[in-house]
Amino acid sequence: MLELITKSIDESRQGEAFQGDRVTNNNYSKHFYIESYGCQMNFSDSEIIASILQGEGFGVTRNVEEANLIFLNTCSIREKAEQTVRKRLTEFKKIKKQNPGLLIGVLGCMAERLKSKLLEEEKLVDLVVGPDAYRTLPSLIEEAGNGTKAVNVLLSRDETYADISPVRLNTNGINSFVSIMRGCNNMCAFCVVPFTRGRERSRDNESIVAECKDLFEEGYKEVTLLGQNVDSYYWVDSKSNHAVDFAMLLEEVAMVSPLLRVRFSTSHPKDITDKVLHTMKKYHNICKYIHLPVQSGSNRVLQLMNRTYTREWYLGRVQRIKEIMPECAISADIIAGFCTEDEQDHLETLDIMRTSAYEYSYMFAYSERPGTLAERRYTDDVPEDVKKRRLAEIVQLQNSLSLASNQNDLGKIFEVLIEGNSKKSDQQWMGRSSQYKVMVFDKSDPSLEPGSYVHVLALECSQGTLMGKIIEKP
Ligand code: SAH
Ligand code: SF4
Ligand code: F3S
Repeated sequence: MLELITKSIDESRQGEAFQGDRVTNNNYSKHFYIESYGCQMNFSDSEIIASILQGEGFGVTRNVEEANLIFLNTCSIREKAEQTVRKRLTEFKKIKKQNPGLLIGVLGCMAERLKSKLLEEEKLVDLVVGPDAYRTLPSLIEEAGNGTKAVNVLLSRDETYADISPVRLNTNGINSFVSIMRGCNNMCAFCVVPFTRGRERSRDNESIVAECKDLFEEGYKEVTLLGQNVDSYYWVDSKSNHAVDFAMLLEEVAMVSPLLRVRFSTSHPKDITDKVLHTMKKYHNICKYIHLPVQSGSNRVLQLMNRTYTREWYLGRVQRIKEIMPECAISADIIAGFCTEDEQDHLETLDIMRTSAYEYSYMFAYSERPGTLAERRYTDDVPEDVKKRRLAEIVQLQNSLSLASNQNDLGKIFEVLIEGNSKKSDQQWMGRSSQYKVMVFDKSDPSLEPGSYVHVLALECSQGTLMGKIIEKP
């Protein structure tokens, strides 16, 4: 989901080990090491896993050599994501040869997709645990420790881990992610998620708001509410019989504090409502940024993809967003080379990108996934070199749209949440505007720190960054 601008996810989050030092380790004699792949929901799940494991006396470590348990929290979205994990597993096997007591576990979507097949294919894997089975990790670890291969890939209709307080990994202490639902009931023809994550279910709104309050009290300044399709969030409180939809949840979270920014991802074009847009407009701290994956600009391809909207519907939603919030940034996910896509379809994708004037996009070449509707019904008939060429054209267009959007921002003032030093200099801060744009500016005032809000005038830009200077609040 929220990744680097105009870079395909395949190139960006290729697995990240726990890096932070906010979790103290001194009290633990046993340790686990975890690497996460794929979308933000997986990263968020790793924080639930960390909480369950800490309860069992395992401290988190970033040092593989120190670990008694190595976990890979995996992604199946494209073939390349799975290949990366397999490569990583062969590296861990070498470590296991030197340390036979070490247990290696594959968690997440690849575990769910391949189930016990993974144990046959990857002989040195000891545990295979699907996304809804993390509560059983303690007994599975015990089984694996006794030499039995441990597998639990049962999907659930109601598991949301609502009562588990995540242990924040890799945190900067400012931005945090909060899962509000799990699974997906859509059946986009290309997508493996409904099979790896199961049925959609929402999490109790009270537990979500309580988690956001705790984060704010711990000093966090931004929460991103996560779900594969946040607009279909729906929870009925059993005591009051009171129904909460996504717009109402957004409002409840926004009211935690005006100093807590609220983001969310992902919105489905068929489901995003005007009520959500009006709620966004009403609260200054709900960020003016919507990730609205389009996938294709061709009605014929959209229909084959089973996205259940047309390009006209999509553009209507974009127009509505801009009418209600002219300053709102929009990003998309785009797939190049889906089954039967021809040059005309591709040109329509480029056209919808221009019309929507995306600030950012996450762009992918179609990768056929076993078991999906597309794999069963259609032929993956666009040659690899054609997919690559179309993807390159899409990326090139997005680069120019991102640059144009940044150029259009020059001379404007943005409220920025400081996240830390800029990559290039510790004399400069890096932060983000409400629109999720990266802004870099000199550290003029010593009283500022990560987590402070400042106003920044945009003066120069590249395609990925706005450079500016701090000014007094206008
Ligand atoms: N729930 C989100 C998407 C989650 S997957 C949504 O509906 O938008 C993130 C993105 O990966 C998708 O939007 C799609 O662009 C891409 N993707 C999914 N399956 C893919 C596949 N088989 N090949 C290439 N890209 C894919
Ligand atoms: Fe996949 Fe579609 Fe669900 Fe997104 S909405 S997770 S693309 S099936
Ligand atoms: Fe990947 Fe699973 Fe997320 S397939 S994109 S980790 S839901």
